[in-house]
Amino acid sequence: MPHVTAIYPGTFDPPTNGHLDLCMRGSRIFDRLIVAVLRNSSKGVPLFTTQERAEMLAEITQPFGNVSVATFDGLLVDFARQQGATAVLRGIRAVSDYEYEFQMAMMNRKLDPQLETVFMQPAEKYTYVSSRLIKGVFQLGGDINSLVPPAVMERLRTKVPANIAQPETGAST
Ligand code: PNS
Repeated sequence: MPHVTAIYPGTFDPPTNGHLDLCMRGSRIFDRLIVAVLRNSSKGVPLFTTQERAEMLAEITQPFGNVSVATFDGLLVDFARQQGATAVLRGIRAVSDYEYEFQMAMMNRKLDPQLETVFMQPAEKYTYVSSRLIKGVFQLGGDINSLVPPAVMERLRTKVPANIAQPETGAST
């Protein structure tokens, strides 16, 4: 088998236990895994800066010796080529993810036929977890402790003011 470097690209705003689970799975099958944070996402204003997201990812993936973190801009295929990567890792949580992921994989194949996209499934307990839901639930005071790594939980607490993260009781006195 040739040496395979894979890129795990994404927005990671913030990284979740689902992302971490995928990093762990990717680290087992690839020789080297580069988690790559997209710098200029079209998803709107992120909660965390690119640097904060990269720092959180570096901290939580530290136990995996063959996983590193980078940031990128522009086309994923160009970044993959620069890094000598021959595979792209993406997570599929549900069939509904597949349509978008399939389109991206095919577009990336069109742009670089040498780059293979590999889909992996996170643990079942994380199939409903997304960064978007994590942010929304946390901002409304919901308990997401078991869905993000402790390092991410800490940063979320510093980003989101405590008064917003506290649910109101609704009780009238
Ligand atoms: O976590 P996300 O937001 O689903 O990740 C999307 C990402 C970063 C993988 C995708 O938007 C991407 O690769 N963007 C880089 C630009 C690019 O290469 N576009 C063509 C691929 S369709």
